[in-house]
Amino acid sequence: MSNPVVLITGALTGIGRATALAFAKDGAQIVASGRRETEGKALEAELRSLGAHAVFVRADVRREDEVRSLVDQTVARFGRIDVAVNAAGTEGEPGPVIDQTAESYAATFDTNVLGTLLSMKHELRVMQAQGRGSIVNISSTYGHEGAAGASVYVASKHAVEGMTKSAALEAAGSGVRINAVAPGPTETGMLNRFTRTADRKAALLKTVPLGRVGEPS
Ligand SMILES: NC(=O)c1ccc[n+]([C@@H]2O[C@H](COP(=O)([O-])OP(=O)(O)OC[C@H]3O[C@@H](n4cnc5c(N)ncnc54)[C@H](OP(=O)(O)O)[C@@H]3O)[C@@H](O)[C@H]2O)c1
Repeated sequence: MSNPVVLITGALTGIGRATALAFAKDGAQIVASGRRETEGKALEAELRSLGAHAVFVRADVRREDEVRSLVDQTVARFGRIDVAVNAAGTEGEPGPVIDQTAESYAATFDTNVLGTLLSMKHELRVMQAQGRGSIVNISSTYGHEGAAGASVYVASKHAVEGMTKSAALEAAGSGVRINAVAPGPTETGMLNRFTRTADRKAALLKTVPLGRVGEPS
């Protein structure tokens, strides 16, 4: 497909940002979304400097009115959505189960699960009417295995994979594909916030067969 219209949430940093830059270099038309206006405008300028038609749209994926508006603004600007990458996510408040609270649950699930659900809901609304499109949810290896000290994040990514499988079945035959990508530890702000110390990061890397972190790009 030439010049696909690509919507990316969580686009201002890490994996979402690398995704936006890669699509820009491939000639895509991009809506890059995030919560921070100044950083969003800076990314918009960077994507345009690569020759891409790109626009930043502010949206918090926990808010349905903002997600609906993000999707509607994408269609108003570019006429369709070919690809949606739902990369917005949070590590929440990692720690043992006995320290978790209703607040730490909500801090993680509201973005990772509700945010992915609302994003898919509105992206699908457009893509099913088009009869084509591809949605990619960013899960994690923690979406299908356990991790001590990360129960709530792990549960949220299991939920992302469950929603992805279910939505893919609902969309089967409509021309819309829905998949999840499950990265291992990747060198982003989230990984460093999650591990907190160099020792903990080194210990995590020992669990990776290749013995190194992935790069977002
Ligand atoms: N890094 C890893 O090792 C790793 C491994 C597996 C999966 N992942 C997943 O990869 C995805 C991207 O994470 P990353 O590693 O690239 O970390 P990151 O740099 O922290 O990116 C996460 C992005 O999501 C945005 N975000 C958070 N809450 C949001 C909300 N409510 N509404 C809109 N945007 C929101 C953040 O923006 P703010 O700055 O405004 O918070 C940030 O730009 C996440 O889903 C993460 O769970 C990461």
